[in-house]
Amino acid sequence: MYSKISSANVIGVDGFLVDVEVDLSNGLPSVILVGLAETSVKESRERVISAIKNSGFTLPSKKIRINLAPADMRKEGSLFDLPIAIGILSALSYMDYSEFYKKYIIIGELSLDGKLRKVRGALPICLMAKELGFEGVILPYDNRYEGSIVDGLKIYPFDNLLDVVKFLRSELIVEPFDEKKENFIQYYDLDISDIKGQWAVKRAIEIAVAGGHNLLMLGPPGSGKTMFAKRIPTLLPPLTKEEALETTKIYSIAGILKGGVINQRPFRSPHHSISDVGLIGGGTHFQPGEVSLAHNGVLFLDELPEFSRKTLEVLRQPLEDGYVVISRANYKVKIPSRFMLVCAMNPCPCGYFGYGNCKCTVNQIKQYQNKISGPLLDRIDIHIEVPNVPYEELRYKDGGDSSAIIRERVLKVREIQEKRFKNLNIKTNGQMSEKEIVKFCKLDLKAEEFLLSVSKKFNFSARAIHKIIKVSRTIADISFSNEIKIEHIAEAVSYRVLDKLNNGLIERHYL
Ligand SMILES: Nc1ncnc2c1ncn2[C@@H]1O[C@H](COP(=O)(O)OP(=O)(O)OP(=O)(O)O)[C@@H](O)[C@H]1O
Ligand SMILES: [Mg+2]
Repeated sequence: MYSKISSANVIGVDGFLVDVEVDLSNGLPSVILVGLAETSVKESRERVISAIKNSGFTLPSKKIRINLAPADMRKEGSLFDLPIAIGILSALSYMDYSEFYKKYIIIGELSLDGKLRKVRGALPICLMAKELGFEGVILPYDNRYEGSIVDGLKIYPFDNLLDVVKFLRSELIVEPFDEKKENFIQYYDLDISDIKGQWAVKRAIEIAVAGGHNLLMLGPPGSGKTMFAKRIPTLLPPLTKEEALETTKIYSIAGILKGGVINQRPFRSPHHSISDVGLIGGGTHFQPGEVSLAHNGVLFLDELPEFSRKTLEVLRQPLEDGYVVISRANYKVKIPSRFMLVCAMNPCPCGYFGYGNCKCTVNQIKQYQNKISGPLLDRIDIHIEVPNVPYEELRYKDGGDSSAIIRERVLKVREIQEKRFKNLNIKTNGQMSEKEIVKFCKLDLKAEEFLLSVSKKFNFSARAIHKIIKVSRTIADISFSNEIKIEHIAEAVSYRVLDKLNNGLIERHYL
């Protein structure tokens, strides 16, 4: 009495095929599960037996052997409940597995009463099913929208075990689910024009977005830093279909996908008490971290000095490479995590240093600002001040250009960069290394002289000069200038606020 069911599991962000084999034989009634199953899979034995009984089937007193193949791949999660149950019932001849083994991938968690519950990773599994030429996927009802994203694959969502059995016995006709909730057209509730005045900040943010530069905002409480950060995704170029799928896969694996495809650039804002694993991902049953949930969007670190140095250190790899590597006992996987980093901070512990009635001592202020990790600051090209908006601007001025208008301008500047870097593996000015800076950033004579004089005056380091040139490249691109001119350099120098704050009172020499 044997059966074989096609199922799947996830490694990193991709699905892989798993054969669930079931063999029933005479012997002491027991259930043996083999095939590198993690604890979460082993628990499925108990759920499956109860679900089968509570769905009205009788289980004979047999020895049940279950094998998950390939045996050398680790399997996690609860999604094998349903294929195991179907495997047992097929081995008992309730249905003929050979009729659907090559046709359908089956996944789903069972509750003790036989109801099906949502599983993690349905989207990458459906993508895999399509690629391997399966006709369809049988999955829990709550995973139906994820499945429907994949074109050319039949999705059969079910609410309970009994219905799946009836369907496989051709006693129940079910039409494939094709009501697509997916919509690749992006729509945002927020708009940059909600913010009144603050023209200088808006200009700096447009530059940061256009050139793919990471950004730090510094200002007193209530000046609008969080408000700005939340609107940055609305200024980024629309997600391509490919990017949308990449991001959606990560949400599917995390089990937090609500509808169909994710059609907005994500905005993640973890609290400063977050753990390393929370930020970077990991855990016994792998869970993507905030850096991956922010993939193709914005990672916002509010109150930057409150984050522990150690936590911020783990950001270095995703900032550098655009992915994190998760190591398991016998394999390593890369999880995509390319995001724009946006940080915000007050100038001092009370928040009002330089903007009113500050109660902090000089030492407290220095200590507070020195809490930010140097290597992280190295990866931020633009720091700007967000002062309180003047009353007149808040009450009487409009919000200026809408996000859609700015996004159009950003797109044009991104196109220039795409052409510039077409044979290289970078996309934006923000990603240029020294070599590319030399190649693509020609300063005219006046600009060169000006940069020399300010560098001497402020004692800029080589690193700071490179950042200024990178940002000025973007500013020049915005005004469609091939050469970098003095005004572009001058504006880029103004985006180094943290280094120049209050006449050098805070002596951070990143410049
Ligand atoms: N320029 C502006 N236009 C319209 N509303 C504004 C503006 N600036 C601030 N506000 C209002 O002030 C509120 C506070 O802004 P926000 O929370 O972004 O400040 P913050 O700088 O993040 O403060 P904190 O340092 O305390 O986190 C906003 O919710 C908004 O209602
Ligand atoms: Mg805030």
